[in-house]
Amino acid sequence: MKNRMKTSEKETPPLVRIRDLKTWFPVKRGLFSRTKDYVRAVDGITLAIYPGETVGLVGESGCGKTTLGRTLLGLESAHSGEMFFDGIALHAIRAKAMTPLRQRIQVIFQDPLSSLNSRMTIMDIVTEGLVRFKKISTSKADHARRLLDEVGLPPDAMHRFPHEFSGGQRQRINIARAISLRPEFIVCDEAVSALDVSVQAQVLNLLMTLQERHQLSYLFISHDLSVVSNIADRIAVMYLGRIVESGTTADIIGNPLHPYTKALISAVPVPGNNTGNNTGRRMRLQGEIPSASAPPAGCRFHPRCPEATAVCREKPPERTVTEGREIWCHLYGASDG
Ligand SMILES: Nc1ncnc2c1ncn2[C@@H]1O[C@H](COP(=O)(O)OP(=O)(O)O)[C@@H](O)[C@H]1O
Ligand SMILES: [Mg+2]
Repeated sequence: MKNRMKTSEKETPPLVRIRDLKTWFPVKRGLFSRTKDYVRAVDGITLAIYPGETVGLVGESGCGKTTLGRTLLGLESAHSGEMFFDGIALHAIRAKAMTPLRQRIQVIFQDPLSSLNSRMTIMDIVTEGLVRFKKISTSKADHARRLLDEVGLPPDAMHRFPHEFSGGQRQRINIARAISLRPEFIVCDEAVSALDVSVQAQVLNLLMTLQERHQLSYLFISHDLSVVSNIADRIAVMYLGRIVESGTTADIIGNPLHPYTKALISAVPVPGNNTGNNTGRRMRLQGEIPSASAPPAGCRFHPRCPEATAVCREKPPERTVTEGREIWCHLYGASDG
C-alpha cells in the first residue's frame, strides 16, 4: 500500500470535480412500447480528484465504473450533473474546446492488444499523438526512444509490431502513448486486470513512478480491490451506479464500515486489512447484482445486505461523514430523523 503524503490535502483545488453526475442509457421496454426505460449506469456520483493523487474506483462488474470513466473522457454524454477539469466545465464544453483537453486527459484501457493498431510500428503508435498535435521537435525516433525508455522498454522496440510483445510489454507501450502528450490526468480502466499477478505489480510500479515524475493524477478503475489498494491514495466503492463509501485507502481497507465494502474485502485477501474481515468468517454476497434499469428502492444494496432493516428498504441513505470517510448507509448517521 502506498503511504506517502499526497497533495490531496484540501488547500489545492481538485483537478477533477464531479457533481451529481448521471449517465443513463435509453432502452426500449418492448417492441411497440413508447415509454423509454433507462439503464442508470451512473446515477448520482460526486467525486473529487486532487493533483498528483490516485483515486481508486472499485465495485463489481456492471456497477458503472467504465461508464463513469467514459463520461469523463467525453465518450458518453451525461444525462445530468457536472464535471470540471481544472475548472473547465466538461459537461458544457463544445467539441472545439475539447481538442486541447485531449492532450491533458488520457486513458489506458484493459486490453492492450485491441487498443494498439497491429499494422503500426511501436514508434508510430507512441508518437501518434505528438504527430497529430504537431509536437515533434526533433524526430519521431528521438521521441519514441525517450518514451520507451520512460516505460522500461529497449529502444529497438520501436521498429517492431504489437503482436511481438507480451501483455505486460504491450501495456507499457500503451502507457508510453498515454504519457506522450504530457497529460495531467489519466483514466486507467482495468489497466492491469488482464495481466498475471507478478506483471500487474510491475506495471503498477511503473504507473506510480511516472506519477511521481510527472505529477499525474489517476482515476484507477478496477473490479479488484486488492489491485486498487496497491496504488490508490483514496478509494471510492461503487455499487449500482452510486458510491457507497469513500475514504483513504488505509481507512477503507483497514476499517471498512459499509456492509458492501466489508463484503468486497472478505471476498479477496487484501494486504493491510487486519480487522479479521478477510481472515475470520467469510461474508458471502448473496444474489446477483440487480439490474441498473430497475434499481431497488431505498438503499440499492438492501436486497443483498446482511444488516438491512426496514428503513433500508424504504429510504435511500443520505451521505454521512464519519471516521474520516463519506458513507451512504443507514447504519451510520442520523438518517432516521
Ligand atoms: N452503451 C450502453 N448501452 C446500454 N447499456 C450500457 C452501455 N454501456 C454500459 N451499459 C450498462 O451499464 C451498466 C454499467 O456498465 P459498465 O459501466 O460497463 O460497468 P463496469 O465497468 O463497472 O463493469 C451495465 O448494466 C451495462 O450493461
Ligand atoms: Mg468496466
